[in-house]
Amino acid sequence: MHIFYGKAALIDFLKSVKTTHSTIGFVPTMGALHQGHLALMQKSLLENENTVVSIFVNPTQFNNPEDLAKYPRTLEEDVKKLTALSSKIILYAPTVEDIYDGQPVSQSFDFDGLENQMEGKFRPGHFDGVGTIVKRLFEIVEPTNAYFGEKDFQQLQIVKKMVAKNNLKVNVVGCPIYREPNNLAMSSRNERLSAKEREEAAIIFKTLNIAKEKFMSKSATLVSEWVQQSFEKNPMFTLEYFVIADEATLLPSLRKNKNKKYRAFIAIVVNNIRLIDTISLN
Ligand code: PAJ
Repeated sequence: MHIFYGKAALIDFLKSVKTTHSTIGFVPTMGALHQGHLALMQKSLLENENTVVSIFVNPTQFNNPEDLAKYPRTLEEDVKKLTALSSKIILYAPTVEDIYDGQPVSQSFDFDGLENQMEGKFRPGHFDGVGTIVKRLFEIVEPTNAYFGEKDFQQLQIVKKMVAKNNLKVNVVGCPIYREPNNLAMSSRNERLSAKEREEAAIIFKTLNIAKEKFMSKSATLVSEWVQQSFEKNPMFTLEYFVIADEATLLPSLRKNKNKKYRAFIAIVVNNIRLIDTISLN
């Protein structure tokens, strides 16, 4: 595996491997790699001659300093996982200075309102931070295809919007959510759950599935009320939001339109740990 800690050496290396017809697949991550991340990389390895993975805990997308401080940094283990996956992977693990050329500050973006919903409401400034780092990484790596998980569906839509608005030459590929055996969406945050919390967190995906079934015959408002009531009965979990929204605009669905695609989004907090999940409804 090739490892780069600075952008200049990475750019030189990519120039040397690039040919007129070869493609570069790119999987940006913040490390603490799990099977969900590796699945994105497997897809990139299958679909591209070269695959670049980045590991960078981006300070500008954390609205909560405690969350940033607690974010797991496990580069040594990550490198082992990547080496076991494929010797072809090109890893870029930069420092804050290498990426930001000075103080890490966010650029301000207009994502046509996508940034004001759900995660954007609960994590002020988060998507400016994501937009800033993803744009910067795209400029450095110049990928043909970039792979993002549907686990962070709002992020996926925001990256697609940024690419469209800036006419960037990269194809953004959305990938399905990889789940634990009890269907809890895989996340590095799951490691902070106790065994019991992790087991009980199966309720998140169960709730999403029941909501999906209910949405076939009931309004988004009624389904949301049902979800709220179910979580009120459960002292272990606090529901931050449950929203049924139009996939394209992420605006909450008020009246069903059969030509639109809908998705349910949920965020819950257990023992100060925030978990998110989503499911397509039609
Ligand atoms: P991170 O949380 O490390 O996630 C990296 C990528 O893996 C994202 O595209 C995310 O959606 C995807 N992913 C995480 N868990 C997944 C799962 N269970 N199934 C499928 N995909 C999953 O998202 C970020 O980092 C950052 O915001 C980043 C884009 C790197 C910018 O800093």
